[in-house]
Amino acid sequence: MKKITIAIDGFSSCGKSTMAKDLAKEIGYIYIDSGAMYRAVTLFCIENSLFTSDGEVNAEELKKRIGEINISFRLNDMTSKPETFLNGVNVESKIRTMDVSSRVSLVAALGFVRKALVKQQQEMGKNKGIVMDGRDIGTVVFPDAELKVFVTASAEIRAKRRYDELIAKGQNVSYDEILKNVEERDKIDQNRKVSPLRKADDAIILDNSNMSVEEQKAWLKNEYQKAAYV
Ligand code: CDP
Repeated sequence: MKKITIAIDGFSSCGKSTMAKDLAKEIGYIYIDSGAMYRAVTLFCIENSLFTSDGEVNAEELKKRIGEINISFRLNDMTSKPETFLNGVNVESKIRTMDVSSRVSLVAALGFVRKALVKQQQEMGKNKGIVMDGRDIGTVVFPDAELKVFVTASAEIRAKRRYDELIAKGQNVSYDEILKNVEERDKIDQNRKVSPLRKADDAIILDNSNMSVEEQKAWLKNEYQKAAYV
């Protein structure tokens, strides 16, 4: 069996990370949540007052300071799940708040931010044996990936899943607010000038609107086996 690269892209909150994480764990691959990296840069902007009062990113200042941002992932021994660190501090729960979600697509639309993060992502995947999820993994980060999946589901279903996830984590959120955020991010991600969200020509589409987590997991494992055993 050969070691391959697996690229999973798709719309916000469609369960990409759950299936990517589970598969990586099962087959002993590295899992990288590229969205967490854009979220960490966004948190850096919030914590360093790099958003103007009208909600725009101070791109000039961020560009000067981008070299100060160090993002890494470490496995939590208790949960065996990877957690995101920003300059040595565990920010895993801070990057999942609505405050970050509502600003991340603006930060992710900046070309110099993408350039810096894509470079790190390609470095992480240079030896293959990696599952990465995001918006531009099959198109820009790993255009030669052996397995590319493009995940989609209706906006309402995605919002409901994200709502349940955040409520379970104890966050005080409303379904309507989440649906609005999901739709807004989809719009910005698809229409930005640099690396917009789109399906790679050779990606397989997975519409998981009516699939359980277990069904989705089995589907991905099967696709992995087909791609890795050739
Ligand atoms: O909420 P969800 O888990 O679906 O999103 P995420 O994967 O955490 O990504 C958050 C945001 O980062 C997206 O809405 C995109 O704006 C941006 N992103 C990106 O531009 N490129 C990537 N490879 C990953 C995320």
